[in-house]
Amino acid sequence: MIEIKDISKVYDGQYALDHVSFKVGEGEIVGLLGPNGAGKSTLMKIITCFIPPTEGEVTVCGHSIYDDSLAVRRCIGYLPEHNPLYPDMYVREYLRFAAGLSGLKEEKRHADEMIELTGLAPEAHKKIGQLSKGYRQRVGLAQALIHDPKVLILDEPTTGLDPNQLEFIRNVIRTVGKNKVVLLSTHIMQEVEAMCSRAIIINHGRIVGDESMDGINAKNLTEQFHKLTE
Ligand SMILES: Nc1ncnc2c1ncn2[C@@H]1O[C@H](COP(=O)(O)OP(=O)(O)O)[C@@H](O)[C@H]1O
Ligand SMILES: [Mg+2]
Repeated sequence: MIEIKDISKVYDGQYALDHVSFKVGEGEIVGLLGPNGAGKSTLMKIITCFIPPTEGEVTVCGHSIYDDSLAVRRCIGYLPEHNPLYPDMYVREYLRFAAGLSGLKEEKRHADEMIELTGLAPEAHKKIGQLSKGYRQRVGLAQALIHDPKVLILDEPTTGLDPNQLEFIRNVIRTVGKNKVVLLSTHIMQEVEAMCSRAIIINHGRIVGDESMDGINAKNLTEQFHKLTE
């Protein structure tokens, strides 16, 4: 579903990504785990066609980022790292707007379904700028999911949330992830343990580990991670 072949990204002579390759298939929830500056966001921006790679190829649902970037973007739901939202829009209004942008006809129905799925009903009448961080993150997730994309790309979806909000967002991701492809980034092992079936460890722009989460817990992974990112 997502196929990354020998991707590099060079900024001013420095490799932000250095010949990265991996594949992610349906039903997988993959955690891209790495310290700050490892290249996680850069990779996600390339997959979602926000920036081009310096070299290499990415295909998503069989579409190339070079030949058919519109088709790539159609099959992806993306929650960017800093979750850019319009603070002056009402939650309900924003989600209807997002539905319209995705080309959906019944904007109200789709917005209402997402409000239900992400538990936004008690806050849906408020302006986005009035929401707490956890509820803003739910709006971002609702926006990413509204067109029922096959592929979800979530850049640090749970960073900075309180434990209740964290558990709720984790649950939504686990539930919707059953019949999608999910690639999420984090620098926290416990997030990978809680949500992912596989962990890809990235450091200095290189993939240094690729582990199935069967039988691995956060402690094992932490030891692995420290060894691999020394
Ligand atoms: N627009 C840019 N211009 C120059 N360097 C950048 C740019 N974006 C990212 N980088 C560099 O690329 C590296 C990877 O950054 P990033 O992908 O944001 O890492 P992560 O998301 O894992 O924290 C860092 O060294 C960062 O400084
Ligand atoms: Mg980042």
